Amino acid sequence: MTVQFKPAETFRDTFTYKKSPEDLLRFPFPFPEDSYMYSVNIEPHVRGGPTAAFQAVFDIDEHYIAECKERARVLAEDPKRCQVLPHMMTAEWDTLELIMESLAADYPEHFTLSKDGDAWTWVNRPLGIQQSFIFGKAETLPCGPFEYITRQAQGDFTLQDQREDNLFVDGGMVTTQADWSLEFDIGMSFHEWHGPVPLAHEKGVFDRALKYLLRLQYGQPVRRLNWTMTVNPRLDTSPENYPVWGPDKASVTPQNVADKVHLRVELQTLYRLPRSNAILFGIRCYLTSVADIAKVPKWRRRLHRVLRDLNPDIAAYKGLPRFREMVVDYLAPLDDGAPTSAGI
Ligand code: HEM
Repeated sequence: MTVQFKPAETFRDTFTYKKSPEDLLRFPFPFPEDSYMYSVNIEPHVRGGPTAAFQAVFDIDEHYIAECKERARVLAEDPKRCQVLPHMMTAEWDTLELIMESLAADYPEHFTLSKDGDAWTWVNRPLGIQQSFIFGKAETLPCGPFEYITRQAQGDFTLQDQREDNLFVDGGMVTTQADWSLEFDIGMSFHEWHGPVPLAHEKGVFDRALKYLLRLQYGQPVRRLNWTMTVNPRLDTSPENYPVWGPDKASVTPQNVADKVHLRVELQTLYRLPRSNAILFGIRCYLTSVADIAKVPKWRRRLHRVLRDLNPDIAAYKGLPRFREMVVDYLAPLDDGAPTSAGI
């Protein structure tokens, strides 16, 4: 899996982020049907799937270097985006091991992990890092093991402790999120942190999802897709920075809607960790402009129908009302009315 990185692209101010044609084809388009409703859409996280984004345990793409730089910038401006409660130290090391071993196995040309007992050496060529350290001794790394390794992966991560038949979000690295706050949620239980989501509680979605996750097995990770829409290719749409990105919504016009509005998809993965019994939750974000979506006939048809018929409570929760109709109007003439086959 050879990747050509684009280290200079930006996710704020100048917004030079763009997808190559190859990158567009690996986008994990999230809709298996012409309509959308919350469900427990969890499946095994195995290699394979509709696009190349599902080929690795932790997906790396052409935006890797630029995204790591952007996330480092967010952390420098707001160090509280990474917090782990002290009882999660074993889970921190579990995470470091899982991510290092997976990246080294999936992308040997970019990452190497060598071990001599507990003396490990990690090489990350794209970011120019070579680090020797003792596994289990945090003082041998430049920062905590969870922060160290999640700075070198695309996407956000949270750590869930399992106790009292529940999950508690007791740690996270959350720099590229769709309008939720780790600082606000840390320490909350599964139903508490999902509190603001409309409709899904009444439908029993969170009861069933929690039951499933409490039984998640080591070595059998699972995944699901989530989605929203973002104005401009901006990764950091946190509540903390709402004054920076909130006003962007007012900048959408019928003339610029296709280039400005992006479908934001999260490939979410969940792993039972071996020593701590905690769960690692990965939130890998993919941004594609409506103009790029429109290049693929089955995607533009389906996005048009999903947005046109979307439940208004879900549309409001996702923050779409200011521009949803403009996207629907742009896509409507591009929907030829053909039936879309089941699947993606
Ligand atoms: C939304 C975290 C697992 C379904 C959210 C939100 C957070 C979150 C922080 C945003 C809530 C807000 O508005 O403040 C997590 C974490 C998980 C997890 C840390 C790891 C255990 C799941 C699972 C499901 C799920 C397994 C399966 C049904 C949803 C749904 C939404 C949501 C449907 C609404 C998303 C939207 O409309 O954009 N989750 N979640 N979550 N979560 Fe989870």
